Amino acid sequence: MLNIEYTLVVPYYVAEAYSMTYKNFITLEGGEASGKTSIIEEIIKYIAEKNLRFIKTREPGGDKISEQIRHVILDKENTAMDYRCEALLYAASRMQHLATTVIPALNEEKIVICDRYVDSSLVYQGIARQLGIEEVRQINAFALKYMPGLTIFINIKPEVALKRIKDNNRDSNRLDIETMEFHQKVYQGYLMLTKLYPERIRIVDGNKELALIVMEVIRILDEYFGF
Ligand code: TYD
Repeated sequence: MLNIEYTLVVPYYVAEAYSMTYKNFITLEGGEASGKTSIIEEIIKYIAEKNLRFIKTREPGGDKISEQIRHVILDKENTAMDYRCEALLYAASRMQHLATTVIPALNEEKIVICDRYVDSSLVYQGIARQLGIEEVRQINAFALKYMPGLTIFINIKPEVALKRIKDNNRDSNRLDIETMEFHQKVYQGYLMLTKLYPERIRIVDGNKELALIVMEVIRILDEYFGF
């Protein structure tokens, strides 16, 4: 089931101007409170019912050391963190997680369902923090060699999504409490990525009720895997 193809992911000047796309590597992306976590739980049930081997994981985190880095990045008290430091920590956490969790699972031909990946860095650090997409790409050069075959973007406007955080009294982290302008930039950044990578990134309407969103994601998965 492991299907590896070469794809031109970085069309510019980065030394690693090629990358491998892993069919079994699937990522979910979206802004704060876009509903990714609940959607992933349902996808997992579906994959398990099909008796497919899989792992579910997340970024930042998904590995003991990466979770420690997550703690540092998302700590509400770390308001003094330099944005470049933040970008490097995400990249470090990502590499550790790839090495110990994602790559071994792909080598065992498991499906890897990952909550966020390098697109989050391109959007949050590259666009919203204004470090520049190319700079963030370079910081993530190691990870860019391992690209997902499919990314599902949950499309919901930040004003709608953030209301959910308030309504649900969900715990907030250092990024949840950013300004609305920041979340708007994140949202616009994702829309831009969907235009840059229309083949890889599929857009799902996050405004619908969970059952309908899940149906749509499953339809995409069925089509993608040819179930
Ligand atoms: P988390 O609580 O996991 O949020 P969510 O449920 O929305 O995924 O927090 C992860 C935060 O880290 C989220 O605000 C997005 C941010 N992030 C980045 O800024 N860059 C990255 O590369 C990644 C992976 C996450």
